[in-house]
Amino acid sequence: MADTSYMARKSVADIVGSADADGGHSLSKALGATSITAMGIGAIIGAGIFVLTGTAAAQFAGPSIILSFVLGGIACAFVGLCYSELAAMLPVCGSSYTYTYATLGEIFAWIIGWDLILEYAMGAATVAVGWSGYIVSLLHNAGITIPPDLAAAPGTIIKLADGTTATGIINLPAILIIAILTTLLVLGTKESARLNNIMVAVKLVVVVAFIALGVFFIKPANWHPFIPANTGEFGNFGMSGILRGSAVVFFAFIGFDAVSTAAQEAKKPQRDMPIGILGSLVICTVLYILVAGVLTGLVPYGELNVPDPIAKGVDAIGLTWFSVLIKIGALTGLTTVILVLLYGQSRIFFTMSQDGLLPPLFARVHPRLQTPHLSQIMIGTIVAIVAALTPISVLGEMVSIGTLFAFILVCGAVIYLRRSDSDASRPFRVPGVPIVPVLGILFCLLLMAGLPLVTWVRLVVWLVIGLIIYVSYGRNHSKLRFPERQ
Ligand code: ALA
Repeated sequence: MADTSYMARKSVADIVGSADADGGHSLSKALGATSITAMGIGAIIGAGIFVLTGTAAAQFAGPSIILSFVLGGIACAFVGLCYSELAAMLPVCGSSYTYTYATLGEIFAWIIGWDLILEYAMGAATVAVGWSGYIVSLLHNAGITIPPDLAAAPGTIIKLADGTTATGIINLPAILIIAILTTLLVLGTKESARLNNIMVAVKLVVVVAFIALGVFFIKPANWHPFIPANTGEFGNFGMSGILRGSAVVFFAFIGFDAVSTAAQEAKKPQRDMPIGILGSLVICTVLYILVAGVLTGLVPYGELNVPDPIAKGVDAIGLTWFSVLIKIGALTGLTTVILVLLYGQSRIFFTMSQDGLLPPLFARVHPRLQTPHLSQIMIGTIVAIVAALTPISVLGEMVSIGTLFAFILVCGAVIYLRRSDSDASRPFRVPGVPIVPVLGILFCLLLMAGLPLVTWVRLVVWLVIGLIIYVSYGRNHSKLRFPERQ
């Protein structure tokens, strides 16, 4: 007899079984540990380090933005351990959505699936807007000027070099990059993964070169005061500034969890998932702390509130050619992030659709390309529209709060499953349960507390919209609750 309550939960055995026996509809198993780690780095290093580090240092934390990165890194380390256990134990695509289905039950799984749209689809839109800023800047170096009102969201006021202003109409470069990457993803996972590996290598070389060259030009005076005095307002420097800075640069860490959406396409998920998740997280955290240290050592923090702070850091060294290279590297970096986020979104929808919570077209796989082509095209279209019309500041904070919310449920899922399914095979185990997951939850809550109230309100509104959709569609089509209707 099926459990028709909203709290119906999937058993771990069923989830693992369905991944093994997915008949003719399976996605191809094309990804090895290196590709998956590269995919993680591809998803992680992006707009956070290339754009938001400067903003956060200038507005909230000063040189102590370094500590903001340490705080964000610690939070993600706890969460990353939890993701590793679950991804190795439940190697199906769907990420925290699947883990929640196995723990808190269907309605919470739906909430988290809906919430993940903020992280993946909205995250892709955010980074596409950052990409647009860098391509406009790079083309400007090449003597090509894109009309500024065609590269910004409607209503955005853009300061021009001659001191006048323009008002944005539509962000065309953002649409362009999403269209190109959606086409690539439709054409095939293996091809996308190969291109991704090359682009990740370019991005890493540029970031490492920035650190290696920049370190010789640091002026230690720029690090004083290391923690600028608080201005009297929460989040404006001082200790609360470090916290606000963390909540903002948390965006830079998002993506290590995207690795878990590829579990079903991994050759050996039990081994490859923990390597991919933890490996990419460690590499990126170390790089971020070094970049933040070098950048704030090169440029007085007050001057970093620009769209291309890393290029500004290079300008301070006085190497113009390297500044152009940095822009190319940043563009490459941002491209890989968008690629992985668009990919992850389609795989989450794939799983939700297989469960009956979304219409069947989201799980339809192209017979020759083996990709969920229809879903990918729909996602690309919506993300392109959002990116064309929304400013980066609104998008970025929504992505952070939505992701932190998902992370809390993932940590909770580890604790829950250790009790409910204590016998299940766990190829990777989080050490020190429940302390580590509880610390993960507390750190995520701390970072959420650093975000403004309006962002919290937007999250609640988004979740309510999701619940309305669940009540109108998902609850009546759920395969778990109504297996006889299939
Ligand atoms: N971590 C990704 C970025 O910084 C989302 O762009």
